[in-house]
Amino acid sequence: MTNAASSSRLFESTALGPLALPNRLVMPPLTRNRATADGVPRSLMVTHYAQRAGAGLIITEGTTPNAVGQTYPNIPALHSDAHVAGWRAVTDAVRAEGGRMFVQLQHGGRVGHPDNSGHLPVAPSPVPLPEEIHTPTGRKPSVVPREMTADDIRETVADFAAAARRAVDAGFEGVEVHAANGHLLHQFLAKNTNRRTDEYGGPVENRVRFVLEVVRAVVDAIGADRVGVRVSPGVTVNGIEEGDTDDIYAALVPALAALGPVYLHVIFADPEQPLYRRIRAAWPRTLIANPVLGFGGPLPADGGKEAGERLLEAGADLISLGRAFMANPDLVERLRTGAPLNPLREANWMYSGDEVGYNDYPTLAGSAALV
Ligand SMILES: Cc1cc2nc3c(=O)[nH]c(=O)nc-3n(C[C@H](O)[C@H](O)[C@H](O)COP(=O)(O)O)c2cc1C
Repeated sequence: MTNAASSSRLFESTALGPLALPNRLVMPPLTRNRATADGVPRSLMVTHYAQRAGAGLIITEGTTPNAVGQTYPNIPALHSDAHVAGWRAVTDAVRAEGGRMFVQLQHGGRVGHPDNSGHLPVAPSPVPLPEEIHTPTGRKPSVVPREMTADDIRETVADFAAAARRAVDAGFEGVEVHAANGHLLHQFLAKNTNRRTDEYGGPVENRVRFVLEVVRAVVDAIGADRVGVRVSPGVTVNGIEEGDTDDIYAALVPALAALGPVYLHVIFADPEQPLYRRIRAAWPRTLIANPVLGFGGPLPADGGKEAGERLLEAGADLISLGRAFMANPDLVERLRTGAPLNPLREANWMYSGDEVGYNDYPTLAGSAALV
């Protein structure tokens, strides 16, 4: 073992199923609300992702598989030909820069508003989000979602599969099914948002059913090597209270593994945490670990490099660093050479709609040119 920066395992080339990755660093999904009002990726998104093509893998921001699943304003989508064409421009540009991309398919469930999607949100049960939600005319109280019928469930599963096919048409290497952070799939998993009494509610074996149906349909549509799944065990964002976290993931992870997805992406990965260690042990293929450091406070100066190295030592395969990639288009190069990172500006994370705080973070070459 050596501690020289250049020999860090983060910069080893590796494989993700059939894909060759030049390093183990992943840009995770980061919602930035810069698509058109009807979900078409705009040219500033082409620039943004192309700037970050040095990542071993880019996973896009949450992207809506059907109209009712839209969370906030200006979220990109993947359920029309125009959406496919918009994303095609992004994947072409990233590929031209030597990169690879998965798209995150995100259905918000109760995290949505009629002012954003044109539809009353749907969810496992009529339990509203316990907070206000951003709309084009400011923050508004959340509405009570409509409980999904058996037909809604079947149609939603089919919409995920159709969006996955469109993802391949749009030039993505694959899709990440978003089962994390309090969105629709997580709402089925959690006790406080799933009050159903049919085969999708009650014991954990029933509450994991919808997630497994979505993943099975997406795998059947585009092949397991093109499918990843994101989970956030124990995370309480968007008012989620899972209730029986250990039991949920003890049931979910082996059942997901049997369906064959190429990766599992775990948020708040912590090598000291028994649940994370059990998930690692139960997952037979690539595990992407997102350490999540300093949320609500400053990121560590190394952007998460040391935490990532600890996770690799403990058996993770790839490391995702969100805000560090946001602020550093050339993050891999900076971490490899030990160069300082750009300070993160939070003012324009979301809802600003333009290049400021989005495409104006300098690269090392750019910084040098300014001197
Ligand atoms: C502005 C912003 C937008 C985000 N959007 C998404 C998203 O669309 N989908 C998702 O799964 N996670 C999303 N996340 C969570 C990130 O992927 C990541 O888990 C989080 O930033 C913690 O990682 P970090 O400490 O490396 O930043 C978002 C985070 C931020 C800060």
